[in-house]
Amino acid sequence: MSAQRRPRPRVGPLASTGVSARPLDVDALLDDPGTGIIVCCGSGGVGKTTTSAALALRAAERGRKVVVLTIDPAKRLAQSMGIEELDNTPRPVAKVRATKGGSLDAMMLDMKRTFDEVVESGASPEKAQQILENPFYIALSSSFSGTQEYMAMEKLGQLHRQAQEDGSYDLIVVDTPPSRSALDFLDAPERLSSFLDGRFIRLLLAPARGPARLMTAGLGVITSALSKVLGAQFLRDMQTFVAALDTLFGGFRARAEKTFALLQADGTAFLVIAAPEPDALREAAYFVERLGEDRMPLAGLVVNRASPVPESALSADEAVAAAARLRKRDPDSLTAGLLRLHADRTRLVERESLLRQRFAAAHPEVPTVVVPALATDVHDLKGLRRIGELLGRV
Ligand SMILES: Nc1ncnc2c1ncn2[C@@H]1O[C@H](COP(=O)(O)OP(=O)(O)OP(=O)(O)O)[C@@H](O)[C@H]1O
Ligand SMILES: [Mg+2]
Repeated sequence: MSAQRRPRPRVGPLASTGVSARPLDVDALLDDPGTGIIVCCGSGGVGKTTTSAALALRAAERGRKVVVLTIDPAKRLAQSMGIEELDNTPRPVAKVRATKGGSLDAMMLDMKRTFDEVVESGASPEKAQQILENPFYIALSSSFSGTQEYMAMEKLGQLHRQAQEDGSYDLIVVDTPPSRSALDFLDAPERLSSFLDGRFIRLLLAPARGPARLMTAGLGVITSALSKVLGAQFLRDMQTFVAALDTLFGGFRARAEKTFALLQADGTAFLVIAAPEPDALREAAYFVERLGEDRMPLAGLVVNRASPVPESALSADEAVAAAARLRKRDPDSLTAGLLRLHADRTRLVERESLLRQRFAAAHPEVPTVVVPALATDVHDLKGLRRIGELLGRV
């Protein structure tokens, strides 16, 4: 059926569209030597870190030389991968089944360390030192919203350069920070560069480097007002910081642009992770559209933590009717209770399936894989392997 003739689905929020998504062939993606970078995005708590680690492990055990960049993994997961130390360097993961010649290194992003490295590589040693010790820099590098996203991209750029130089990796899997919105990952670097490059900062910078006549009465008023609000010391720190950072401005922007280009390259594959819930899928839809606008290659959608399909073929309505009959005879019937539970689970599975169908109707071009929720959290290699198997089912 051609795209134009596809029936418009829109009858009530949960109306069935009958459209199911194309399956996503994860193993084909992992095995393709052309796949050099996989980026796992999605809104908070949907399973980005778990999926990144599971994909990386599966790829390594299928023969790829993989590095996975994780962001804030849960403690137990980090321990099981041997990356609880925050030293900003990839470390080999023990107990990977490397029979096919693959390998897995893992690391956890150290945001501040990565920022320091950028400063150190872009400024003279004295200037770098001056920046690193500045309180404003310390605050910015450890807490500015968006810094984590920017530094994740920076680290990706570094790993990619290293991989190209010494061939240590042929696949980089990237987790993204726990932001509310998946879009933050793409927006943050621009926000940070515009902040550092913005008018406010330029204004503060002017007295520090411009000719004396720039110190007009107007500007003096602004700076003195600011120093009242922010405190004179803070303002001085900020001015010195910005003046020192000035030499890096070109560097920051150029770097962000380079990494953006890397994200747009053919060898990059974005995976959008979502929970089978309206908000997460809506967020995923925005993200898919944004990737299209930014010409970034989308590999597919992972619907994670789906409710497992109940084994019995009994429909929800049948189970409810049978439970009602049993309860008439015995109000405390255990079987009736189990039948109600079955009905609830079946309805949940149906609801999730309808949500997926709605997504597929709106975005028929996006291949999808559904990963059921495991009975427990995923905190070791065994759990990651299991998630990998579920991802690999076509
Ligand atoms: N398929 C699954 N089955 C069972 N538990 C899962 C599954 N996927 C993820 N989890 C668990 O859900 C929790 C959240 O997962 P994870 O940390 O990967 O999410 P995240 O998207 O990285 O979160 P954040 O946005 O905070 O970084 C973890 O405890 C993880 O073990
Ligand atoms: Mg995470």
